[in-house]
Amino acid sequence: METIKSIQQVVSSLDRPKLQLLAVSSAGLGGILVYLALRKKVRKIPIGDGWWGAGKGPVTGDKTIRPFQVETSEEEIQDLHSRIDQTRYTEPLEDCRFHYGFNSTYLQRVVNYWKNDFDWEKQVRVLNKYPHFKTNIEGLDVHFIHVRPSNPAGQKVLPLMLVHGWPGSFFEFYRILPMLTETEGDVVFEVICPSIPGYGYSEAPHKQGFNSMDAARVFLKLMERLGFQEFYLQGGDWGSLITTNMAQMKPECVRGLHLNMAFVMAQGLGILLSLIIGRYLPFLVGFTREDVRRIFPFMERNVYEILRESGYMHIQATKPDTAGCGLNNSPVGLAAYILEKFSTWADFKNRDLEDGGLERKFSLDDLLTNVMIYWTTGTIIPSMRFYKENLKSSLQKRVDYKTPVYVPMGLAAFPNELTHCPQTWARKKFKNITTYSYMPRGGHFAAFEEPELLAQDVFQFVRKVESKRSA
Ligand SMILES: *[C@@H]1O[C@H](CO)[C@@H](O)[C@H](O)[C@H]1NC(C)=O
Ligand SMILES: *[C@@H]1O[C@H](CO)[C@@H](O)[C@H](O)[C@H]1NC(C)=O
Repeated sequence: METIKSIQQVVSSLDRPKLQLLAVSSAGLGGILVYLALRKKVRKIPIGDGWWGAGKGPVTGDKTIRPFQVETSEEEIQDLHSRIDQTRYTEPLEDCRFHYGFNSTYLQRVVNYWKNDFDWEKQVRVLNKYPHFKTNIEGLDVHFIHVRPSNPAGQKVLPLMLVHGWPGSFFEFYRILPMLTETEGDVVFEVICPSIPGYGYSEAPHKQGFNSMDAARVFLKLMERLGFQEFYLQGGDWGSLITTNMAQMKPECVRGLHLNMAFVMAQGLGILLSLIIGRYLPFLVGFTREDVRRIFPFMERNVYEILRESGYMHIQATKPDTAGCGLNNSPVGLAAYILEKFSTWADFKNRDLEDGGLERKFSLDDLLTNVMIYWTTGTIIPSMRFYKENLKSSLQKRVDYKTPVYVPMGLAAFPNELTHCPQTWARKKFKNITTYSYMPRGGHFAAFEEPELLAQDVFQFVRKVESKRSA
């Protein structure tokens, strides 16, 4: 009371212009103080809004959730076969194996299987074994599957969204789904598995600019529409960035975030130092022996190797429509483009194998089903555009890059992931790492390659988060 009175006295002794000056400068000073105080503590990124439908909008659309089924026809299969028959192959260089890209001798074997043994109608029945839906969000028909545990006797049922990346699809999760939804034990999941807009059965954005934060907002709206207030998230590749963005936008809804690839880029003096001395004195920079094994020789494994493998990214981040045109017209070209990634990203050493090691990890049925999801929907170009939209400016300049993630996080570090992220680096971005696992085997397509290992790690993470919550 006393102070208020004395402030009033001071204020009334000032004339008007001085008062205004005082008000403006104190507001300014206050602003700067608030800015300084909050600068390091941005806890959320703004959700924003968007509309990606064709033409003028936004149009408030239909919010119903409609059942959907994958379909095919005699015509579709005939068309595929006639295009396959017209393929022109280029003989591979002598002894090149997979070093120049997909070996065309082996490609002909894959294509031969595709034409004569692969049964798309059967695979469509496989796809339809889980219930599919579509619903319109921000002007786009968003596709997802929704799998409920059939018999959750006495189990805690937790909602979990799984998000795929490129050049994958929701189908990557078909082998892990039963492990998550039909299991004994205290916890079981109800899984929502969407297609990123522009991938497979989700409509492609009609407007420029749709990036991972837009996908994150669309998926948050999807979860809200389905009535989930709190849920878990899991992702790799683009799915990792999208689910991370979801956790940054609505942390209050995300009980936990499980990733099998972390978008944490090496930068800053600390990281430079850790690269220089980490190999010799790992404990000084927080590396474990396993980190050292996985990171060094750094230039070879993380610079040259990435340069060798990321040409596709430069093309897709600049001229996706040009590069994608041929792929959208030639099923064999599309298969070579997509399947080369499944070879090399499972293990860089696969380039040394005559068949790219593809069938060591995957069945041709599974691989070609994923290719067919791109082929039949004609979505290779929109899927490639996602690189352009996300890499328009440097990822490091984006608000999501600078915003830490506070929700409980679990990282499954697979040994053949494109780059290894030590826990000490992950901590710079993820402030509440609850589990961090060095996985014994597997590469970039964790769910597709090692569904059992990934499922175990997800359960381990979720149990830990749940037990801390109830403690
Ligand atoms: C390409 O693959 C075929 C079939 O696996 C193999 O026999 C052949 O040696 C490979 N070609 C080259 C040039 O590596
Ligand atoms: C981190 O997550 C756990 C749940 O795994 C929670 O109990 C804890 O409060 C969180 N810590 C912080 C600092 O947010």
